[in-house]
Amino acid sequence: MSANSSKAAIHIAGTGSYLPERVLTNEELSKTVDTSDEWIVTRTGIRERRIAAEDEFTSHMATKAALKALEQAGLAAEDIQLIVVATVTPDTLTPATACHVQRNLGAHRAVAFDISAACSGFLYAMKVCKRMISDGAFENALIIGAEKLSSFLNWEDRTTCVLFGDGAGAAVLRRAQPGEGSIVATEIGTDGNLTRLIEMPGGGSACPITEKNAHLHLNAFTMQGKEVFKFAVTRMKEAAEKVIERAGWQADDIACVIPHQANLRIIDAIADRLAVPNERVFVNLHKYGNTSAAAVAIALDEAQRGGRFHRGDRIVLVVFGAGLTWAAAAVEW
Ligand code: UT7
Repeated sequence: MSANSSKAAIHIAGTGSYLPERVLTNEELSKTVDTSDEWIVTRTGIRERRIAAEDEFTSHMATKAALKALEQAGLAAEDIQLIVVATVTPDTLTPATACHVQRNLGAHRAVAFDISAACSGFLYAMKVCKRMISDGAFENALIIGAEKLSSFLNWEDRTTCVLFGDGAGAAVLRRAQPGEGSIVATEIGTDGNLTRLIEMPGGGSACPITEKNAHLHLNAFTMQGKEVFKFAVTRMKEAAEKVIERAGWQADDIACVIPHQANLRIIDAIADRLAVPNERVFVNLHKYGNTSAAAVAIALDEAQRGGRFHRGDRIVLVVFGAGLTWAAAAVEW
């Protein structure tokens, strides 16, 4: 296959992740907000989450995850041609967090920009970069999901603050060499009629934060959990089925499903609907909570390094998030 062929297969050459040191347990949270370990574990499966230090930004976590992915891929930062950071908690509204990561890494040849698709962002970045490499425009790409959600939560709102955490995950994409695995099929989707279900109402041009509204926590996430739950199960099932079908696989062929890590009940419902046994579904949300765009990237790295799948195995990644958005990928490792 020629290097410029639009059908060039794209390989995931390395993954990496980073979690901040500070652990915040349910027990600790229940001392500052009206909740309990029992409620959080029963309703979500989350037991603890990581919280970034005050001077540790999204770009810092993204850079640390990226370095691990580069090391595993055997590439130097200066070899990287494209850096895409998926985040809804950028260091600043502008410049893009990816620009900070480019500077931190010394990846001076790379074009860098952000993608805002909430929890679906990492797989949006995978689809976009897969195409940009297979078109022949770039040799490789570093895709990163990174979030410092702790800076955008109302810590008095028990319906949101118990759910989220901080962290970053990364992957290096490049053209596949003969015999290497590849991203076989991808799917992304959006329903902009449902923007209100998860949002951060303030801090943008529609509602700047001013002295008058500063006390209203408008630059914190709000969510209509029950509605999102129903949507998540339906859309993730459909997206996963689409990529499985396009790849020409059966449920029995799949070695590992790596879903968005938001709620164990959602993950169980997806496993059930896809007829994939629970032991083939990767879960780490009990340790980190929902880290939005970082979640599936961290899970991919942990599952890979933990030996949950091996070269040649078939895996499915599937996510959903604010927008509302959803995405899936079928990958032959
Ligand atoms: O990545 C973004 C995607 N977002 C998601 O995946 C979220 C999807 N949704 C969910 O995960 C679930 O809907 C939640 C975990 C957010 C909520 O679970 P639920 O079973 O849907 O609970 P609910 O919202 O219906 O609330 C049940 C009760 C309410 O009390 P009343 O009205 O029945 O008296 C809430 O006020 O639980 C109360 N509640 C809490 N109680 C203790 C809500 N949050 C808490 C809390 N601790 N943290």
